[in-house]
Amino acid sequence: MKQFISVHDAGNINALVEKALMYKANPLKDKALGAGKRIGLLFLNPSLRTRLSTQVAAGNLGMESIVFNVDKEGWALEFEEGAIMSGNTVEHIKDAAPVLGNYFDMLSIRTFPSLKNREDDYSELYISQFKKYCGVPVISLESATLHPLQSLTDVITVKETLLNSPLRDGGKPKIVLTWAPHVKPLPQCVANSFSQWINAWNKAEFVITHPEDYELKEEFTNGATITHNQDEALKDADFVYVKNWSTYKDYGKIYENDPAWMLTEEKLKLTNNAKVMHCLPVRRNVELSDEVLDSANSIVTQQAANRVWAAQAVISEILMSQNG
Ligand code: CP
Repeated sequence: MKQFISVHDAGNINALVEKALMYKANPLKDKALGAGKRIGLLFLNPSLRTRLSTQVAAGNLGMESIVFNVDKEGWALEFEEGAIMSGNTVEHIKDAAPVLGNYFDMLSIRTFPSLKNREDDYSELYISQFKKYCGVPVISLESATLHPLQSLTDVITVKETLLNSPLRDGGKPKIVLTWAPHVKPLPQCVANSFSQWINAWNKAEFVITHPEDYELKEEFTNGATITHNQDEALKDADFVYVKNWSTYKDYGKIYENDPAWMLTEEKLKLTNNAKVMHCLPVRRNVELSDEVLDSANSIVTQQAANRVWAAQAVISEILMSQNG
């Protein structure tokens, strides 16, 4: 593996999931693999899970990890080619990234979209410029449009749950991604990425439900059944993934905040006693009710814990490709 930006870098998804579960069973199995290597974790936005799970994963592989909160501690970076830097930006990525590439054996980066200009956000300028100029493998810790470490974790969590309690008929699980209300316009990253990975994994019946005008980019959702009827979607679901996102078409807006879209105990009764997933952080009693989050159906803590094994599998693959 040379980089990890989207599902297209994953190779064999099942093999990566197996590897992650192997690390979960034996975290220090490859303790020597990353000896003498260093990973940089660059954050242009806040994080709890991604930052800490990636550091734990790197440590399990014997690597040193250094976190740099670029947004708070670094020089303001310029990403546009040919920019006349007479404004607020102090250092061009063309100058900063090669320096970072000399300090680290691999770089991981979190950037969020502006949600102001769709074309700019979907061009993935920030992560592309890091990749172009740093000269070492890049891992996305969430970009403007995708969150691949989260999505790999989500597939691992579904697979693990099915291994521990197989479906009665042994068939494909029904996975429902449902939009939920939120107080702020949020990126489409998690929903895009989850759709991209579940479609590529191709081992589930996949349904997406959201209010009108919340369609995601078709590139990611193609292959899923899409409906505006949440109750219909939830019927017989084995897994329900709850997530808010802002509008894609009329970009970055909140059109709808009907609390009826919140996943409650009542709605969960429509499902096949579904396991409930959310990437966290979650707005309690806005996206998901306390009753659901605190019930045995919720697997959000297991899901967040699995972030370590997803990151460890990915870093391990990159180290193996570096070690030849
Ligand atoms: N799910 C997730 O990426 O969490 P953090 O924003 O806390 O890293």
